[in-house]
Amino acid sequence: MSNVPVRYGIIGAGVIANLMARVFTEGRGSVAVAVSDVNPEAARKLADLVAVKKIYPDYHQLLADPEVDAVYIATPPFLHKPMTIAALRAGKHVCCEKPFFLTQAEVREVIAVHQTVPHLRVNCCSSRYHNSETARRARQLVADGELGQLYRVHFEQVTLAGKPGTVLPPWRNDPAKNGGGISFDWGPYDLDWLSFVLGDLFKPRILFGTTGNYFPLTTERVPPCLNVDGRLAAEIICDGGLTIHWERRAAEHGPDRHNVEFRGTKAGMDLCFLPMGAKQSLHHYAYVGEAPLAETKLRDAPPPWDDTLVFPIRDLTAAIRENRPTSHTLAHDLRIHGVFDALLASAHTQQAVRIAD
Ligand SMILES: NC(=O)c1ccc[n+]([C@@H]2O[C@H](COP(=O)([O-])OP(=O)(O)OC[C@H]3O[C@@H](n4cnc5c(N)ncnc54)[C@H](O)[C@@H]3O)[C@@H](O)[C@H]2O)c1
Repeated sequence: MSNVPVRYGIIGAGVIANLMARVFTEGRGSVAVAVSDVNPEAARKLADLVAVKKIYPDYHQLLADPEVDAVYIATPPFLHKPMTIAALRAGKHVCCEKPFFLTQAEVREVIAVHQTVPHLRVNCCSSRYHNSETARRARQLVADGELGQLYRVHFEQVTLAGKPGTVLPPWRNDPAKNGGGISFDWGPYDLDWLSFVLGDLFKPRILFGTTGNYFPLTTERVPPCLNVDGRLAAEIICDGGLTIHWERRAAEHGPDRHNVEFRGTKAGMDLCFLPMGAKQSLHHYAYVGEAPLAETKLRDAPPPWDDTLVFPIRDLTAAIRENRPTSHTLAHDLRIHGVFDALLASAHTQQAVRIAD
């Protein structure tokens, strides 16, 4: 294990990079040495926050800086693939914001480049919810066969409408730059979490799904991104027979819901996806003999939100210093973006779609 700090270059100095700034000043092994943004004011503001002097208007200059060991990419999604490829070619480790990619073909392109520099670590911020004791305990219960043969996962998340008058950057309303709306905004977290908890059982093979765009709720309450999706529902069949219902909806005439159910031949469990959610227990259910259904609550200790937010950078830093893999790898992205490709194709054709490996 090396005690030398990992020196980061930050590419993109917008909303999320400012929220992540703490991880580069907290003295836990990740330090910032350079910032790049095409907007000089944004770059200056973040550089001040993370106490760095080097500001590069062109990210290629940052990648050419020998002081930079790793990059944190926090630009709009359509820039993630070219920036990751350029970073790997420049010999830098990468932590990229979600959605990492727009298509599975993009993942393959990056994997091909990564194969030429396999010593470099690559992860994505969609892995932030791996930092949950609930997720880790659930993963262990599944891996230990505690639930028997897992045949059903029901994953349903519904969020309320945002504040009226919210303004978002234009890229968020452009599927060509963003991939989609709520699907590509929250979907990467959903699928990354499922992939983490289910492990080898998460092998999506066939998907039938639908999407629908945001719509004005009232004349006064108009979501800021009407060109992109605000809801998705998909039925996913995995190799081995596990079926997953994946549903995410936002900004509708109804309450929020956060419901995750796992059902197996020996036991079931209900749990919380967000570590800061209200339902902070993992509920284990089983019939034993002739007794009525037994419920056991396994208490969770939700981590502070700040720890969850910065988990991917801490994970990449530790992976570099300890020479171990990150919790999230490009193999996860292959599956995650296989699901996204199939969702968009199925929503378009109204047919079930086979998911490529
Ligand atoms: N805003 C959030 O709460 C949030 C949360 C989690 C993840 N994310 C993800 O983080 C990414 C960025 O989101 P954001 O909300 O910070 O966006 P943003 O629009 O606030 O910031 C993006 C920044 O990238 C800069 N940029 C654009 N092109 C560039 C280039 N060629 N070189 C350098 N900089 C360039 C822009 O000038 C801007 O400052 C997205 O993928 C988003 O999904 C955002």
